Amino acid sequence: MKTLVVYYSRTGKTKFVAEKVATALKADIEEVVDMKNRNGRFGFLKSGYDATRGNETEIKETQNSPSNFDLVVIGTPVWNSRPASAISTYLKRNNFAGKKVAVFCTNEGMGEEKAIERTKALISNGNIVGELVVSKVLENQEENESKISYWCNKLASL
Ligand SMILES: Cc1cc2nc3c(=O)[nH]c(=O)nc-3n(C[C@H](O)[C@H](O)[C@H](O)COP(=O)(O)O)c2cc1C
Repeated sequence: MKTLVVYYSRTGKTKFVAEKVATALKADIEEVVDMKNRNGRFGFLKSGYDATRGNETEIKETQNSPSNFDLVVIGTPVWNSRPASAISTYLKRNNFAGKKVAVFCTNEGMGEEKAIERTKALISNGNIVGELVVSKVLENQEENESKISYWCNKLASL
Protein backbone atom coordinates (compact mmCIF):
# COMPACT_ATOMS: atom_id res chain seq x y z
CA MET A 1 0.00 0.00 0.00
CA LYS A 2 1.59 3.26 -1.12
CA THR A 3 1.35 5.69 1.76
CA LEU A 4 1.88 9.43 2.17
CA VAL A 5 2.11 11.17 5.54
CA VAL A 6 1.21 14.88 5.34
CA TYR A 7 1.67 17.05 8.41
CA TYR A 8 2.05 20.57 9.73
CA SER A 9 3.98 21.32 12.90
CA ARG A 10 4.63 24.69 14.55
CA THR A 11 6.86 23.47 17.38
CA GLY A 12 7.94 19.96 16.38
CA LYS A 13 5.51 17.69 18.22
CA THR A 14 3.35 16.75 15.25
CA LYS A 15 6.55 16.37 13.22
CA PHE A 16 7.82 13.89 15.81
CA VAL A 17 4.69 11.76 15.47
CA ALA A 18 4.58 12.11 11.66
CA GLU A 19 8.12 10.80 11.38
CA LYS A 20 7.32 7.78 13.58
CA VAL A 21 4.25 7.02 11.47
CA ALA A 22 6.15 7.41 8.20
CA THR A 23 8.91 5.09 9.36
CA ALA A 24 6.46 2.45 10.61
CA LEU A 25 4.45 2.53 7.37
CA LYS A 26 7.47 2.97 5.05
CA ALA A 27 5.67 6.03 3.77
CA ASP A 28 6.65 9.15 1.89
CA ILE A 29 6.40 12.25 4.05
CA GLU A 30 5.41 15.81 3.23
CA GLU A 31 5.52 18.79 5.54
CA VAL A 32 2.99 21.51 4.84
CA VAL A 33 4.83 24.79 5.32
CA ASP A 34 2.87 27.81 6.51
CA MET A 35 4.34 30.97 5.01
CA LYS A 36 2.95 33.15 7.81
CA ASN A 37 5.22 33.82 10.76
CA ARG A 38 3.66 31.98 13.67
CA ASN A 39 6.50 32.38 16.16
CA GLY A 40 6.29 34.10 19.50
CA ARG A 41 3.34 35.45 21.43
CA PHE A 42 1.84 37.31 18.51
CA GLY A 43 2.19 34.26 16.25
CA PHE A 44 0.45 32.13 18.85
CA LEU A 45 -2.45 34.57 19.16
CA LYS A 46 -2.76 34.96 15.41
CA SER A 47 -2.78 31.16 15.01
CA GLY A 48 -5.65 30.75 17.43
CA TYR A 49 -7.55 33.54 15.73
CA ASP A 50 -6.99 32.09 12.24
CA ALA A 51 -8.02 28.58 13.33
CA THR A 52 -11.16 29.78 15.08
CA ARG A 53 -12.19 31.90 12.11
CA GLY A 54 -11.37 29.08 9.69
CA ASN A 55 -9.06 31.47 7.85
CA GLU A 56 -6.99 30.00 5.07
CA THR A 57 -3.27 30.67 5.21
CA GLU A 58 -0.54 30.83 2.62
CA ILE A 59 1.14 27.44 2.23
CA LYS A 60 4.20 26.49 0.25
CA GLU A 61 3.43 24.39 -2.82
CA THR A 62 3.42 20.70 -1.90
CA GLN A 63 5.48 18.08 -3.72
CA ASN A 64 3.22 15.01 -3.63
CA SER A 65 -0.30 14.57 -4.94
CA PRO A 66 -2.63 12.35 -2.86
CA SER A 67 -3.76 10.86 -6.18
CA ASN A 68 -0.49 8.88 -6.35
CA PHE A 69 -1.09 7.08 -3.04
CA ASP A 70 -3.45 4.44 -1.63
CA LEU A 71 -3.41 5.75 1.93
CA VAL A 72 -2.88 9.35 3.03
CA VAL A 73 -2.23 10.06 6.73
CA ILE A 74 -2.93 13.65 7.80
CA GLY A 75 -1.32 15.05 10.98
CA THR A 76 -2.15 18.34 12.67
CA PRO A 77 -1.72 20.03 16.02
CA VAL A 78 -5.00 21.03 17.72
CA TRP A 79 -5.55 24.77 17.58
CA ASN A 80 -8.56 25.89 19.62
CA SER A 81 -10.27 22.52 19.04
CA ARG A 82 -9.60 22.81 15.33
CA PRO A 83 -6.96 21.74 12.81
CA ALA A 84 -4.09 24.16 12.24
CA SER A 85 -4.68 26.63 9.41
CA ALA A 86 -2.03 25.08 7.17
CA ILE A 87 -3.80 21.72 7.31
CA SER A 88 -7.28 23.10 6.75
CA THR A 89 -5.90 25.03 3.78
CA TYR A 90 -4.18 21.90 2.44
CA LEU A 91 -7.30 19.78 2.85
CA LYS A 92 -9.49 22.32 1.04
CA ARG A 93 -7.08 22.32 -1.89
CA ASN A 94 -6.74 18.57 -2.38
CA ASN A 95 -9.10 15.83 -3.40
CA PHE A 96 -9.05 12.43 -1.76
CA ALA A 97 -11.52 10.63 -4.00
CA GLY A 98 -10.98 6.89 -3.86
CA LYS A 99 -8.27 7.19 -1.19
CA LYS A 100 -8.03 5.77 2.27
CA VAL A 101 -7.38 8.62 4.69
CA ALA A 102 -6.29 8.45 8.34
CA VAL A 103 -6.10 11.47 10.64
CA PHE A 104 -4.04 12.14 13.73
CA CYS A 105 -3.74 15.17 15.94
CA THR A 106 -1.42 16.21 18.74
CA ASN A 107 -2.43 18.39 21.63
CA GLU A 108 -2.07 19.06 25.34
CA GLY A 109 -5.29 17.27 26.29
CA MET A 110 -8.21 19.45 25.25
CA GLY A 111 -10.51 19.71 22.24
CA GLU A 112 -9.22 16.68 20.37
CA GLU A 113 -12.60 15.17 19.52
CA LYS A 114 -13.86 18.35 17.91
CA ALA A 115 -10.55 18.85 16.16
CA ILE A 116 -10.65 15.36 14.65
CA GLU A 117 -14.28 15.79 13.53
CA ARG A 118 -13.52 19.20 12.04
CA THR A 119 -10.49 17.83 10.25
CA LYS A 120 -12.43 14.89 8.83
CA ALA A 121 -15.18 17.25 7.63
CA LEU A 122 -12.63 18.98 5.35
CA ILE A 123 -11.57 15.76 3.60
CA SER A 124 -13.41 15.63 0.32
CA ASN A 125 -14.50 12.18 -0.80
CA GLY A 126 -11.94 10.23 1.20
CA ASN A 127 -12.71 7.01 2.97
CA ILE A 128 -11.68 7.65 6.60
CA VAL A 129 -10.00 4.52 7.93
CA GLY A 130 -8.42 5.66 11.19
CA GLU A 131 -7.91 8.40 13.73
CA LEU A 132 -5.46 8.92 16.54
CA VAL A 133 -4.91 11.50 19.26
CA VAL A 134 -1.46 11.93 20.77
CA SER A 135 -1.46 14.19 23.82
CA LYS A 136 1.60 15.72 25.49
CA VAL A 137 3.79 14.19 22.80
CA LEU A 138 7.20 14.56 24.39
CA GLU A 139 6.17 14.25 28.04
CA ASN A 140 4.61 10.78 27.64
CA GLN A 141 7.04 9.65 25.02
CA GLU A 142 7.21 5.93 25.77
CA GLU A 143 3.44 5.50 26.11
CA ASN A 144 2.88 7.57 22.98
CA GLU A 145 5.37 5.61 20.93
CA SER A 146 3.61 2.32 21.69
CA LYS A 147 0.23 3.91 20.91
CA ILE A 148 1.60 5.16 17.56
CA SER A 149 3.08 1.80 16.71
CA TYR A 150 -0.18 -0.03 17.55
CA TRP A 151 -2.11 2.40 15.33
CA CYS A 152 0.34 1.96 12.46
CA ASN A 153 0.05 -1.82 12.66
CA LYS A 154 -3.72 -1.48 12.30
CA LEU A 155 -3.32 0.83 9.28
CA ALA A 156 -0.79 -1.46 7.69
CA SER A 157 -3.20 -4.38 7.84
CA LEU A 158 -6.01 -2.55 5.97
C1 LIG B 1 -2.92 28.59 18.59
C2 LIG B 1 -2.84 27.31 19.40
C3 LIG B 1 -4.01 26.76 19.91
C4 LIG B 1 -3.94 25.58 20.67
N1 LIG B 1 -5.12 25.02 21.11
C5 LIG B 1 -5.07 23.85 21.81
C6 LIG B 1 -6.29 23.22 22.23
O1 LIG B 1 -7.41 23.65 21.94
N2 LIG B 1 -6.18 22.08 22.99
C7 LIG B 1 -4.96 21.55 23.35
O2 LIG B 1 -4.94 20.56 24.05
N3 LIG B 1 -3.79 22.11 22.90
C8 LIG B 1 -3.83 23.23 22.12
N4 LIG B 1 -2.65 23.79 21.68
C9 LIG B 1 -1.38 23.09 21.92
C10 LIG B 1 -0.94 22.25 20.73
O3 LIG B 1 -2.04 21.58 20.11
C11 LIG B 1 0.06 21.15 21.12
O4 LIG B 1 1.10 21.66 21.89
C12 LIG B 1 0.58 20.45 19.87
O5 LIG B 1 1.08 19.17 20.22
C13 LIG B 1 1.68 21.28 19.20
O6 LIG B 1 2.08 20.63 18.03
P1 LIG B 1 3.32 21.16 17.14
O7 LIG B 1 4.52 21.14 18.02
O8 LIG B 1 3.42 20.15 16.04
O9 LIG B 1 3.00 22.52 16.65
C14 LIG B 1 -2.69 24.95 20.92
C15 LIG B 1 -1.52 25.53 20.40
C16 LIG B 1 -1.59 26.67 19.62
C17 LIG B 1 -0.34 27.26 19.02
